[in-house]
Amino acid sequence: MNPAKPELSKYRSEFPFTDRVTFLAHASFGPLPQRSWKATEEYYDCLRLEQIKDMDKVAFDKLDDIRAMTAQMIHAKPEETAVVTNTSYGLNVAAWGLDLKPGDKVLLSDVEFPGNTYPWTNLRQKGVTVEFVPSKNKCFDIDNLLRAIDARTKVLAISFVQFFNGFKIDLKTIGQICEEKDIFFVVDGIQGIGNLEIDVKECKIDLVANGGQKWLLSSPGTGFIYVSSEAKREINPSFFGWLGVDWKLDFSDLFKFDLEPFPSARKFEIGTYPYSQIWTMHSSLQLLAEVGIRNIQSHSQALLDLLIEHLRKKDYHITSRLESDHRSCILSFSGKDTEGLFRKLRKHNIITSLREGAIRVAPHFYNTADEMEKLIQLL
Ligand SMILES: Cc1ncc(COP(=O)(O)O)c(C=O)c1O
Repeated sequence: MNPAKPELSKYRSEFPFTDRVTFLAHASFGPLPQRSWKATEEYYDCLRLEQIKDMDKVAFDKLDDIRAMTAQMIHAKPEETAVVTNTSYGLNVAAWGLDLKPGDKVLLSDVEFPGNTYPWTNLRQKGVTVEFVPSKNKCFDIDNLLRAIDARTKVLAISFVQFFNGFKIDLKTIGQICEEKDIFFVVDGIQGIGNLEIDVKECKIDLVANGGQKWLLSSPGTGFIYVSSEAKREINPSFFGWLGVDWKLDFSDLFKFDLEPFPSARKFEIGTYPYSQIWTMHSSLQLLAEVGIRNIQSHSQALLDLLIEHLRKKDYHITSRLESDHRSCILSFSGKDTEGLFRKLRKHNIITSLREGAIRVAPHFYNTADEMEKLIQLL
């Protein structure tokens, strides 16, 4: 089987390193497509050329597009998304905006990425209780979640896909539980959004936080949040700034100190944006929309199938779960000398990540079956 769809191969030229380097570490960071690099240059051109006269309009149009494109990616409405600088910012929007009281309980997973633990454990200074739901074989376990929930439980915050083994959680079932128990459902989407289909409405998610630097192929300093218009509780913008209100692009009279916050999620955007990265993100999101999330998912998983087939025949231990409900675009495995193998792959310009004692392989839509074959040859 050759899983590389011909129409995807045309995107190889967006990634000029591919003739020398096999990059399979999108769960760590995303490379910049050529068109996004050009878009970033265009931003700086705008600053030094005559387009400078239209800067505000161009920038705000791009931000509108980003809100719309990120919303589309997760089946939300544009007014439910806001542009932020990283995942952690979005998680803090929830942690501080929810007005949690002493004794209220937040549930996390005991195998969570620390980006989604510190914003919550920081609330202990307010008397909030933070509890880690025990995982089962390093995967989030719904029975243990049910055991941990009590009348004080107000929030569950969890990753869509676990960073080290790629375990995709059952968002729909968990969302249903949160709905029934009136628990605010927060999802760190960074390891799944951009490579897996997700419907935030169907999964009854209240807030998603998502950095752009990995699967969205954007640069560090970009990201978005989704705050559901039907969220269980209102989130107060605990940080608030001048770009959280509507100037209608008229900055001629700025002594207006009592404008109302945007009714949309835009109220969480507080000040001047990292514009060069906004140009980058805009272009990368357009590329992902062109390729299509469903294609990205099926292509990346078909590439991983090739690897799985080989690993099963050899003496390797796959640390990811392979049931379709829990599979993502990340596959992890270990062997007799995992670190040595990781170094060997690097020496041959095959870039993976080493996480929690396993090699993490995370292909994107422009990777090919030949690249997987190269990796397999070295195993
Ligand atoms: C699950 C998860 N959440 C968050 C992050 C990063 O958070 P931030 O965008 O705030 O740096 C990572 C990886 O860096 C991650 O794997």
